[in-house]
Amino acid sequence: MRLFRKLRTLLTSGAGVAVGMPDADALKDPFDLFDAWFRAAQEGGLYLPEAMTLATASPDGKPSARTVLLKDVGPDSFVFYTNYTSRKAAELEANPHASLLFHWPILQRQVRVEGPVSRVSREESTAYYHSRPRGSQIGAWASDQSSELDARSTLEQRIKEMEARFPEGEVPLPDHWGGYRVTPDRIEFWQGRPFRLHDRIVFEREGDSWKTHRLYP
Ligand SMILES: Cc1cc2nc3c(=O)[nH]c(=O)nc-3n(C[C@H](O)[C@H](O)[C@H](O)COP(=O)(O)O)c2cc1C
Repeated sequence: MRLFRKLRTLLTSGAGVAVGMPDADALKDPFDLFDAWFRAAQEGGLYLPEAMTLATASPDGKPSARTVLLKDVGPDSFVFYTNYTSRKAAELEANPHASLLFHWPILQRQVRVEGPVSRVSREESTAYYHSRPRGSQIGAWASDQSSELDARSTLEQRIKEMEARFPEGEVPLPDHWGGYRVTPDRIEFWQGRPFRLHDRIVFEREGDSWKTHRLYP
C-alpha cells in the first residue's frame, strides 16, 4: 500500500504545472476549483492532503500559526475541530478572523484562505466527535490543550481517570471541544509554473458572488 501510494505520488508530480490554471473569467465559484485541487491531492496519494496551516492573531496583532486538519468543506466554508480553551481558540474568540494555508508540494500548488470565523453548531460538533475513535474522544476530555503540562505521566493519569469516568457507552461531547468554521471572503490559488512565472488567481467575495483577478507571481 505504501509503495502504491509512493507510485501515485510520483505519477502526480508536476501534473499541475503541466495543466496550468483555468482562465480566471471561466471560474465562478472558488469552491469548485478547491474541490478539484483537493481531489487531485487525495487521488495523487499525498500524505495528509487535508493538513492546513491555521494562522490566528491576538487582538494586538501578534500572529501565531499551527497545523490542523480540514474536516469539512463547502458550500462556502472550511471546518476544523479543536479545543475551545486552546491558545488558537483564545485568539479566535478575541479576534474571530483566520487564514488557512494548504500546500501540496508535489502538485506545486498552494491555496490561501482568509475570512471571519465562527463556532460550528453543537449538533455538528457532536456528530463529528462521535465519528472519531473512542480513544480520541477520551483524549479530548483528558487534554487541557495548550496549558502547561508538568509531566507526561499527568496526562496518562488523566486519561485513566476519564476511561474510568466513561467506562462504556457513548462518551459525551465535552463543552470545551468543537469546530470552527472559516467563511472566506478571499481565496488565492497558486500554481507553480516554469521559470517562476507562476499563476495566481484571487477570488474576492462580492455579495452572493465572487470577483476574480490575477496577480503577478
Ligand atoms: C498534521 C497535524 C494535524 C493536526 N491537526 C489538529 C487538529 O485538527 N486540531 C487541533 O486542535 N490540533 C491539531 N494539531 C495540533 C496543532 O498543530 C497544535 O499543536 C495544537 O492544536 C495546539 O495549538 P495552539 O496551542 O496554538 O492552540 C495537528 C498537528 C499536526 C502536525
